[in-house]
Amino acid sequence: MSAKPQDAGAPPVQLWSRDGFQGALSVVTRQTYAPDYLSVQGPHAPRRAVLERLTPDDQDDPEALPTTVATSRLGVKLHVSGRRTPMPYVVRNVEADEIHFIQSGTVKFETDVGCLTATEGDFVCIPRSIAYRYAPTGDAMRSVIVESPSVLKLAPPAPSGLLNVARDLKHAEVDATMPAGGPTRLVLKTLDPENTVFMLPHDPLALGVHLSESVPVWKLNLANIQVHAYLPEGGPPSQFLQSGTGDLLMFNLSARPGGRPPVHINADFDELICYVRGPGAWGGCTEPGTLTCVPKGVIHHGPSEDVPEGYQAWLLETRATMRWTPKALAVAELMETGQYMPHPGAGK
Ligand SMILES: [Fe+2]
Repeated sequence: MSAKPQDAGAPPVQLWSRDGFQGALSVVTRQTYAPDYLSVQGPHAPRRAVLERLTPDDQDDPEALPTTVATSRLGVKLHVSGRRTPMPYVVRNVEADEIHFIQSGTVKFETDVGCLTATEGDFVCIPRSIAYRYAPTGDAMRSVIVESPSVLKLAPPAPSGLLNVARDLKHAEVDATMPAGGPTRLVLKTLDPENTVFMLPHDPLALGVHLSESVPVWKLNLANIQVHAYLPEGGPPSQFLQSGTGDLLMFNLSARPGGRPPVHINADFDELICYVRGPGAWGGCTEPGTLTCVPKGVIHHGPSEDVPEGYQAWLLETRATMRWTPKALAVAELMETGQYMPHPGAGK
């Protein structure tokens, strides 16, 4: 492993950078391949997990909430959901905005600002304190849910180019035919260990008409977010979404032309990448729904993104220091940070 060459012709540099891709940087050369490590002990280690190997609690228990796979002191969290039947209650997260990424299946969302149906590759934004429930339209679905205590907003680098908002951003629409319904449970999700549950006389998601122009619940498909490439040598991706405090950024990290990233250290951001699907492999990631995490301050290289066969992936950068939960650790493996394969010395 220590004799592993870098890409032919690539300068043997090591980049340290502040503030994700935006801040101060320092570049040095090294005689050895910096991402190599022989072993690691402790929580702040790079890991990967094929999320299909985790059975979310809500897959077999309709009452369950999605299963948390990573948490942080800043309140940024990741969950996975795998419902086979509709939620028998309505939930309102009063602590965080949520992005639901639909990994597989088709999912009908009903919210208290309207309904939308999301398909594979859609990001669905449900801001703080919007009540909702969802259900697979078939017999299965998988989603990865990102929670951000700071408000999430689309933030492409220019008004046009990365996103075609007029064409591709779809907002929830009121379904006035939804019956008023009978007694319905509303679960308020908070930071408390137990949830607060209201029993309401009617379905709170049965609405009349929309009177305001803006609708805060939307969907956007990963495939409709363009990739930003620097040719010929490559450069950082561009975010399409960020939190108000700038402590959470999201990017399309699907295949794009250009050189491989440099060996680098993020001073401030944990880097979580979800390899969604091929056809092409992204380095050591070939299985749909593979989540990789390189914590801040851990030297990494990363596979080439210039994959002619194409693949889909997204990147979450966060100032939060993420910790995998025991349920996620049970299906995770230690990762080497060159090609993002399982580490050859992998204990867990
Ligand atoms: Fe990185």
